[in-house]
Amino acid sequence: MGVIIRRYTDADGEGFRRVRSMAFRSGESIDPEDKLLRDDCIAYVGVDDGQIVAATTVLKMTASKQGLDLPCGGLAAVGVVPEKRRSGIGSKMMAEILPMMRDEGLLMASLYPFRATYYRKFGYEPCGKRYQITCPGHRLPKLEQELEIRQIEVNQKEQIAECYRQFSMRYAGMNKRDDDQWWRLLGGDTPLAVYVAGDPIEAYAVFRLNGDFWVSQQIKELVWNSARGYRSLLSFFRSLSLNKNDVEWREPGDSPYLERYEDQGAVISIWGNIMFRAIDVPKLLATKPVAGEGEFSFKVLDSFMPENVGPWSISFKDGSVQVDQCSEASFELSIGQFTQAFLGEPSLESMIRNGSVAVPEASRAAACAYFHAERTYCMDYF
Ligand SMILES: CC(C)(COP(=O)(O)OP(=O)(O)OC[C@H]1O[C@@H](n2cnc3c(N)ncnc32)[C@H](O)[C@@H]1OP(=O)(O)O)[C@@H](O)C(=O)NCCC(=O)NCCS
Repeated sequence: MGVIIRRYTDADGEGFRRVRSMAFRSGESIDPEDKLLRDDCIAYVGVDDGQIVAATTVLKMTASKQGLDLPCGGLAAVGVVPEKRRSGIGSKMMAEILPMMRDEGLLMASLYPFRATYYRKFGYEPCGKRYQITCPGHRLPKLEQELEIRQIEVNQKEQIAECYRQFSMRYAGMNKRDDDQWWRLLGGDTPLAVYVAGDPIEAYAVFRLNGDFWVSQQIKELVWNSARGYRSLLSFFRSLSLNKNDVEWREPGDSPYLERYEDQGAVISIWGNIMFRAIDVPKLLATKPVAGEGEFSFKVLDSFMPENVGPWSISFKDGSVQVDQCSEASFELSIGQFTQAFLGEPSLESMIRNGSVAVPEASRAAACAYFHAERTYCMDYF
């Protein structure tokens, strides 16, 4: 009968733990008390002849987009037991969970790839950029600390949540965290240090203080909603860097560090880019806020979810969008390109410039206005 992909049930615990153990925990047994599936998770399993041979978890999150919170499923721990790998089970699971996720009301999916090439086959594409900045202490900019820096307790997370919310509004793809997701971000049972700038808070940094000398001090999360908040924390990083090799943190594609403060000696790399995939194209199209007016038609190439193909005619004016299925499309986008264009980075305009998408001149202005550029970023790791 072949492998069946279905939603996890309580009776699957043992098989689910075995997949997790064999794929991610060196074969060590996992205590049934170990909460592998938290309340914000959905899980799927692959069953072969009554045995669970594959599993994955989907974390319920959101992806911000122009003030909207789009339901988004974050895929984690995609695994197949070693004896069943390379026979198509992983691919079958990746394909068949897509409509199941849509039926849960998810409009988007996201993941951190072990290799982008594997997930690209299923329609995922990297969206946005994340720069990792590793800056030797003596190369950090000498900035005035304009705002007072203080430490807050992790149980005072409401104080930083507003700063995070405002930061999130500036990017597509950001997750609106629930309490449990905040708890995990802040270190869970082994709380991290949280330092904030200003009152009300205009910037914050979350990190585990590294007690060793001449090592890297890593910052888990840096968020700011004002330029002086950002500068104050960068100034504070100089204090953190004393007797350390460097301070390491991450910033989005419109990084203020790269814009104004970069110096010789700092190492900048692209770090762990997230991939997204649109799951419910018609709903996304109808949901998207858009300014200006225009009309165009296009088609989405999605061999996994025919409901996404269209062709779609889009007509927008004064903030409202009319989406209809039509018979002819003036251009086509793969589902991955659609996802990138929808979120906004890389934008449709940059794809046209790169020659990866051909849009007829007559449709170009309207299509680029609808799929306009927007910085895309996600700070949640899963
Ligand atoms: C990754 C994993 C889930 C794939 O499952 P699977 O059932 O083995 O995958 P499939 O049989 O559907 O596909 C395997 C094919 O993908 C190809 N593939 C594997 N990695 C790839 C990559 N990085 N890029 C492109 N193709 C890749 C393989 O070459 C293989 O094709 P082949 O048999 O022609 O060589 C599974 O190997 C696994 O559990 N690995 C360990 C855990 C892990 O790394 N999980 C992913 C991180 S979240």
